Amino acid sequence: MTSSDRNEPDGERKHVTVLFADVMGSMDMAEERDPEEWRSIMQGFFSILSDEVRRFEGTVDKFTGDGIMAVFGAPIAHEDHAQRACYAALRMLDEVAGYAAELRRRHGLNFSVRIGINSGEVVAGGIGEGDYTAIGHTVGLAQRMEALAEPGRAYLTEAAASLARGYFELEDLGEFEIKGASRPVCVSALTDVGRARSRLDRSRERGFSSFVGRDEEMAILEAALEGARAGEGSAIGVVAEPGVGKSRLCHEFGERCRAAGIEVYEAQALARGREIPFMPVLQMLRAYFGIGDDDAERIVREKIAGRTLLLDPELAEELPLLFDFLGVPDPERPLPKLSAEARQRALRDIVCRLAHAPARHEPMVILVEDLHWIDPGSEALLGGLLEDLSGSSLLAVVNFRPEYEPAWALPPEHCTIELQPLGPDDTRALLRDLAGEDPSLRDLAPVLHERTGGNPFFIEEIVRSLAEAGSLEGSRGAYRLTCPFEDSGVPAEVQTVLAARIDRLGPEAKRLLGAASVAGKEVAERALLRIAGLDRPEQAETPLRELIEAGFLFELELYPERVLAFRHPLTREVAYGSQLAGQRQAGHAAAAQALVELNPERHEELAALIASHLEQGDEPLEAARWSARAAYWAGHSRPREAMGLWQTVTRLADGLGTGEEPESMAVASRLQQLDFAWRVGMPREEQRRLEGGAEEIAERIGDTRSLALLQMLRSGRPGLEQRTAEWVDGIEQAVRLADESGDPHLRVALRAAGAYAYLCAGRLDRFEAALDEAEELAGGDRSLGAGIVIGSPLAWAAMGRGIAKRDRGEIDESQRLLERGVRIAEEDGDPETASWARSNLAVIQRLRNEPEAAVAAARRNCEQTERLGDVFSRSLALASLGSTLLGTEEYAAALEAHEEAERIYREAMGGGGEMEVWRAGLRAEALTGLGRAEEAAAVAEAAVGLAGERELHWSLPLASLALARARAAAGDHEGALATLDLTELAAGRIGAELIVATVEEERRDMAGERAG
Ligand SMILES: Nc1ncnc2c1ncn2[C@@H]1O[C@H](COP(=O)(O)OP(=O)(O)OP(=O)(O)O)[C@@H](O)[C@H]1O
Ligand SMILES: [Mg+2]
Repeated sequence: MTSSDRNEPDGERKHVTVLFADVMGSMDMAEERDPEEWRSIMQGFFSILSDEVRRFEGTVDKFTGDGIMAVFGAPIAHEDHAQRACYAALRMLDEVAGYAAELRRRHGLNFSVRIGINSGEVVAGGIGEGDYTAIGHTVGLAQRMEALAEPGRAYLTEAAASLARGYFELEDLGEFEIKGASRPVCVSALTDVGRARSRLDRSRERGFSSFVGRDEEMAILEAALEGARAGEGSAIGVVAEPGVGKSRLCHEFGERCRAAGIEVYEAQALARGREIPFMPVLQMLRAYFGIGDDDAERIVREKIAGRTLLLDPELAEELPLLFDFLGVPDPERPLPKLSAEARQRALRDIVCRLAHAPARHEPMVILVEDLHWIDPGSEALLGGLLEDLSGSSLLAVVNFRPEYEPAWALPPEHCTIELQPLGPDDTRALLRDLAGEDPSLRDLAPVLHERTGGNPFFIEEIVRSLAEAGSLEGSRGAYRLTCPFEDSGVPAEVQTVLAARIDRLGPEAKRLLGAASVAGKEVAERALLRIAGLDRPEQAETPLRELIEAGFLFELELYPERVLAFRHPLTREVAYGSQLAGQRQAGHAAAAQALVELNPERHEELAALIASHLEQGDEPLEAARWSARAAYWAGHSRPREAMGLWQTVTRLADGLGTGEEPESMAVASRLQQLDFAWRVGMPREEQRRLEGGAEEIAERIGDTRSLALLQMLRSGRPGLEQRTAEWVDGIEQAVRLADESGDPHLRVALRAAGAYAYLCAGRLDRFEAALDEAEELAGGDRSLGAGIVIGSPLAWAAMGRGIAKRDRGEIDESQRLLERGVRIAEEDGDPETASWARSNLAVIQRLRNEPEAAVAAARRNCEQTERLGDVFSRSLALASLGSTLLGTEEYAAALEAHEEAERIYREAMGGGGEMEVWRAGLRAEALTGLGRAEEAAAVAEAAVGLAGERELHWSLPLASLALARARAAAGDHEGALATLDLTELAAGRIGAELIVATVEEERRDMAGERAG
């Protein structure tokens, strides 16, 4: 597909309401009639049905033989498509009943109509050479509703009913099994028009949320009211996008006025009211004159005349006009002949005179809702009134959406309130009212605010749809969030509102918005042009301005280049969802290409984004390559991200089938995941599956290098819980395989990483020897083996030798090596090894009797490590902090650090790993310090046992020393001394001179204490 194909979408996904109506009783009688007569009878039905569709601005999609299919909401979206379909249905039933009665009388024929209505997504557009049409499951279900309906009735699916409820009376018919639907469908029958006229009415019926914020706006309105009281009337326009709260603000203000005894009159323009002239004005005048629905004409005239004459006796002459306008012409006083314009002018005049009548002293408020839908007649009439209220005691508050441009002159600036969405605090308050204060909701408010941009209507709808989906459990005002809030989808009502706004855009702007939605939350202007297939920036200038002015996009950055962002994600989702899959795919492919070409310097940084566009653009091989690139870039600095990216590579590579590149990616990405598993955690079964998968493919393609690495990861990676002897066997085999493969990188990397097994097994000599070998093989080339298991093998080699030296009691040399480890790691971009080395350096400071400095260093290291998002390193850093806190005798803080280190490790890894004994020893020391010697002894004893079982000879003496101290503190001196002997033995066996010396000290202290 070329870019110009993209420019002409051949269809759109739309949310619409589909109506099927069919005339029953026709076919069996057709044969008995003259075809011409028959045709004219059927013509009668069709014209009733199609007239009603057109009256409510629907589209007749096709004639079905004995009926029609109509669509509301396409090609042009109407946010009230379901309501329009219902109005049309009610009128069809009425009109057809009349026509059928006539046919019965005149021809003895028996006809009726039945109707089915459903709302949902369709693909709409021209098919082949044909006309615009809608297709999809939504259509089929509407037809099934029609087939199900009893003669003379209209049936609705739940999807349509939930949009219509409140505006219409519905009868719940229960669930029906419907062919082609996987689950039973809830069906309702349409019975009558309901009470709600606007969305606000419906909110009121459902129970208003408590009113939040809007103090400033209220103050403006109150001040204007004061003006009206003083005879300085004015008009105020409240402007905002749908759902921001215009009606609610006006309603609350109206209630306050009524409570203060002020007369308030309301009028409402309706979306489908443009063809009913003067409706809002009539509504207001009827309210003003106190006319009831059942009042007789004479009473109505009396009411009109009474009020008018009291205000201004001179208006007596004008009464016939008023009577006529209000539909109660006086037979005694016929109206003089006037042109339509003259009549309108005269009416406007009367209304103004009523407003300015000298006899009116009490202030009065009129509220007019939704001026954007007002009919031209009412607009002219109202405009005349609003333009000049000075000197009256009338306050007019009107509201409208930003697309409305008043045909009358708005009074000075300060009379417009541009209502803003709710701020974060008001969003929180609204959410509290709607959902309650359960702790599970704590983080919902900011997410919701981000997602809705603070639009209260969207907030209410999302909360409701979460409750309906069961993600929120409980009842209104007292919910609990049962699963993490990620993507709630776009609630149907929000969808219709946003889709209608998008449809009002010009075609260029709409296309640009679609392109932007493919790019993501934000997009650089140059990339946007490419995605939209535009060559010159000028082409985008006007549509972009339109999008910004209409509040869809805003300028996030202007320098060094213009970056545009969506105001809220919901619009993006709707714009994105309205495009056909093929269009979106092409857009993503173009987005990837644009990112690559426009950002030659930032490929690494953008690789993940490029990969995700490529994947959605259906280019899996390229997507896998870029994901791998992104994963390498994230590397050990952002292990979680890297892990996720490697998962993507595996998924994509597996989907590509056989072939050299896909298969080697399939193996490599699995090995990479295993390598991150010990850092961030992964369920055991998943690890087994990855090992199995990697082995199978590597053997099939004869990839010895990968088999060596797999061997290393399978039996020698940290976190394993087998005996260290097995571990050592495993890594020795891996090193042999690496040597066989001849790959110098692997030889260095596996020696270095594998050496850790010797350390845990307490074989300090072998540990140092393996690290020496690795260093020797590398011959000073720090890039050798870099990134394989360990970021910088040589940093780790230096650090590992530093640990051995420390254990041997050579503190100076140890410090030198550890510092060297930090330096190399930092220089070579391996923050992980740097973190481990710093953990060990902090402990050295403690040994040097600089306990405060040790704690400070350990704390700094914790903070730095936190950013890595790697559990292994974080647990280690925390345990080291705990260890330094023992030096400053802050035992409670130490215990807290140790417990946290233990908790996060176990949570992520599902076990304690090879450091478990070491951590338990430290924890026992903290407990002893806190005077909880019994507990300490129990912890240390268990650790000593575990060390024996798993042959963790390196950590055994540490746990054993902790046990001796705990026993001494508990007053068990014999036991303590015996344990010290065992500690000395265990430490001596592995050459840990440092601990041997400590045991000596400990013995002296104990003897001293006993003597003292
Ligand atoms: N300040 C507020 N506090 C609490 N709820 C609010 C507030 N403002 C609006 N709402 C609620 O948000 C919903 C939408 O508000 P409203 O109907 O006033 O929007 P609108 O701007 O008039 O939209 P439209 O242009 O579609 O008529 C309503 O349910 C309303 O009760
Ligand atoms: Mg409103």
